[in-house]
Amino acid sequence: MSKIQAPKGVSEYFPPRSDNFEFVRNTLISAAKVSGYSMMELPVFEDTELFIRGVGESTDVVSKEMYTFEDRGGRSITLRPEGTAGVMRSVIEHNLDKGQLPVKVWYSGAFFRAERPQAGRYRQFYQVGVEAIGANDPELDVEVIAIAHRAFMALGLKNYRLDITSLGDAESRARHRVDLVKYIDGLNLDEATQARAAINPLRLFDDKRDEVREAMAAAPLLLDYLNAEAARHFVQVQELLGEMNIPFVINPKMVRGLDYYTGTTFEFVHQDLGAQSGIGGGGRYDGLMSDLGGANLSGIGFGIGVDRVLLAAEAEGILTDAGPSELDLFLIAMNEPTKRFVARALNELRNLGVRADMAYGDRALKGAMKAADKSGARFSMVIGDDEISAGSANLKDMKTGATESITLSPLTVLADQLKRR
Ligand code: HAM
Repeated sequence: MSKIQAPKGVSEYFPPRSDNFEFVRNTLISAAKVSGYSMMELPVFEDTELFIRGVGESTDVVSKEMYTFEDRGGRSITLRPEGTAGVMRSVIEHNLDKGQLPVKVWYSGAFFRAERPQAGRYRQFYQVGVEAIGANDPELDVEVIAIAHRAFMALGLKNYRLDITSLGDAESRARHRVDLVKYIDGLNLDEATQARAAINPLRLFDDKRDEVREAMAAAPLLLDYLNAEAARHFVQVQELLGEMNIPFVINPKMVRGLDYYTGTTFEFVHQDLGAQSGIGGGGRYDGLMSDLGGANLSGIGFGIGVDRVLLAAEAEGILTDAGPSELDLFLIAMNEPTKRFVARALNELRNLGVRADMAYGDRALKGAMKAADKSGARFSMVIGDDEISAGSANLKDMKTGATESITLSPLTVLADQLKRR
């Protein structure tokens, strides 16, 4: 029979690398949890309208990259290309915005964009994200940025940079837009580019073509149009980042790929990843909630690309081996008849909370010993007829080779011993 392959451009993780993937994801999640964020689990498909209204029609994400299809009931459904719009939809639908503010949530899961696949860019990829909705404090902006920074520090990442800017409030943006549109009107652009600019002129700062970059070099910058209130907020963010020793660079030409951003906006860029260098990004979104039919609340959040953070960690040589073993103990049956005793002991030890395993399938002792080595378990124990009749066996430290005799009944003695170590 012919083999079936995974669809083009998806990322997937299997042992041993999946241990590292899980480690990176859990480190990101832990950083959110210690900051008081609660978990949210949302559908991977939503009403298409949510992303058109939430993410914006001028974006590549909505105009070119959505996996959209009609379901059996004739509804237009889209696989989520990002997480923020879904969180807003759910917060509004379940009235979380009417309770204690800010609502602080984290999420983790698969996202879908029909992009051209390349290293670090996939059609199904993974994010850990946070959203904090219902407060417009600069302190909250910095809390969100600090979560990502804390996770990257915990992983030991070094070769990355934090870019920040402010996209201002509606009034600042409107004033800037007038001048920017005037500037763009004076350029000689093709029709498609003009159409993009008509929906969101900021998008031209993100154009990768040399001629457009040159043409945009002298374009007016939004940072120069911030009104007093927006400028004060942005200065406070910078001061607080400084006080918390979180290094950053101001990048006034940063353009995010999604249209909902306002105010503080940021991106983490890793230096060892080539073209797909964005390991995470986010920012504030003042109008998103009301655009989706909710209250007029501001929010801020980020999405970190777990696939890319893993690639970054590997590029820096931080996670080279298969990842730390989770096993405390590996049991080895001396021969076929003792296997049943070992299986029962193993089951009881696991019930007592010991992380343990045994060799299956292999009849020879030598193979089982090898399996114990490969498992990375901290301790091993060989059990044969002699051990069963004596009621005790040698617990071997796999690192030092030291052994110690321990009773097998009750097994709580062994379990306690392993937990103490
Ligand atoms: P985003 O910048 O579109 O933001 O995506 C966040 C991160 O997801 C990127 O920095 C990148 O690491 C990863 N990523 C995006 N596309 C791909 C891909 N095709 N393959 C691999 N990794 C990818 C958002 O999605 C916003 N929802 C973030 C946010 C939350 N803003 C406010 N709250």
